[in-house]
Amino acid sequence: MAGSYNIAVIPGDGTGPEVVAEGIKVLGAVAQCEGITLDYTTFDFGGERYLRTGEILPDSAVDELRKFDAIYLGAIGHPEVKPGILEKGILLRTRFELDQYINLRPVKLYPNVETPLKDKGPEHIDYVVVRENTGDLYTGAGGFTMKDTPHEVAIQTMIYSRFQVERCLKYAFEYTRKRNKRNTLGLVGKTNVLTYVYDLWERVFHEIGAHDYAEIKREYYNVDAACMWMVKSPEWFDVLVTGNMFGDIITDLGAITQGGMGLAAGGNINPEGVSMFEPIGGSAPKYTGKNVINPLAAISAAQMMMEFLGEDAAAARIESGIVEVLARDIKSLAAGQMGLSTTEVGDRVAQYASE
Ligand code: IPM
Ligand code: MN
Repeated sequence: MAGSYNIAVIPGDGTGPEVVAEGIKVLGAVAQCEGITLDYTTFDFGGERYLRTGEILPDSAVDELRKFDAIYLGAIGHPEVKPGILEKGILLRTRFELDQYINLRPVKLYPNVETPLKDKGPEHIDYVVVRENTGDLYTGAGGFTMKDTPHEVAIQTMIYSRFQVERCLKYAFEYTRKRNKRNTLGLVGKTNVLTYVYDLWERVFHEIGAHDYAEIKREYYNVDAACMWMVKSPEWFDVLVTGNMFGDIITDLGAITQGGMGLAAGGNINPEGVSMFEPIGGSAPKYTGKNVINPLAAISAAQMMMEFLGEDAAAARIESGIVEVLARDIKSLAAGQMGLSTTEVGDRVAQYASE
């Protein structure tokens, strides 16, 4: 039976509102086909609100967001706001406080999309990165001493608890099992230097793997080597799991191999709570309001949201809409070079997804 969902929408900054509008357009089309009811509540968190009121994310907002079935986010980042303020105050705070401990980032090359990887096609680039999303260098633990003196010391600490590592690895093993493609989970770490943090990751990886997931093949890569193989032999990968910092870095590399930020989407997932779906490119301020930004990443995030809500048929429709528009209409993924406007891309995907 098709469901009914309350979705919180945070369009955010820059081109965020434009791409989110296209995502909602496509969601509307597939919801109608599948008999799904979607109710949206929009929140104006972002740079404009901060500049106007000084407020980043009101304390009540997080509790408010907890009540929804999912959160759909556009982009955070404003040229007139110092980097870090909005990112930490909205994006990271939501991830942490809603305990969205998984950041799921598929790396999938669709047909008719150009990849910078030589001689690689859709059959070679199709894996998923499970990025831990609450710990690591992101916790903000650290500080300065003797700031602004020649002796200044800056410290930022990599932190992981066994609890965090364990729940992330369990999710990654379960995800690999459910995906059921190559049944291979690769841990990306740095055990040759980060001999505490990634030692913990590696021990727990093999403990859980041997005990509960014997049918899943376990691989280990140091992060530097993983970057090399993501370029040279991406077809080796099925699911990769890693900490927050490495996950941030390697998913940008992954994104460019699938055609860039115009297509890359991610889910900030709390399997027991409220999850948030977003295109992973930024707010692209210079394209704001021009109707030229590529909305496919946001549409793809909407697809992930449907998948997460268990609406697989709706998700499959969105994906086929994306595949069709890439095959039939889009010249280039770059903003302003698509051969279609932002709203036209949304229109076409909505149409193809309904067929
Ligand atoms: C991402 C982004 C964020 C991160 C920034 C904007 C805080 O780069 O979602 O990958 O580092 O997680
Ligand atoms: Mn990033």
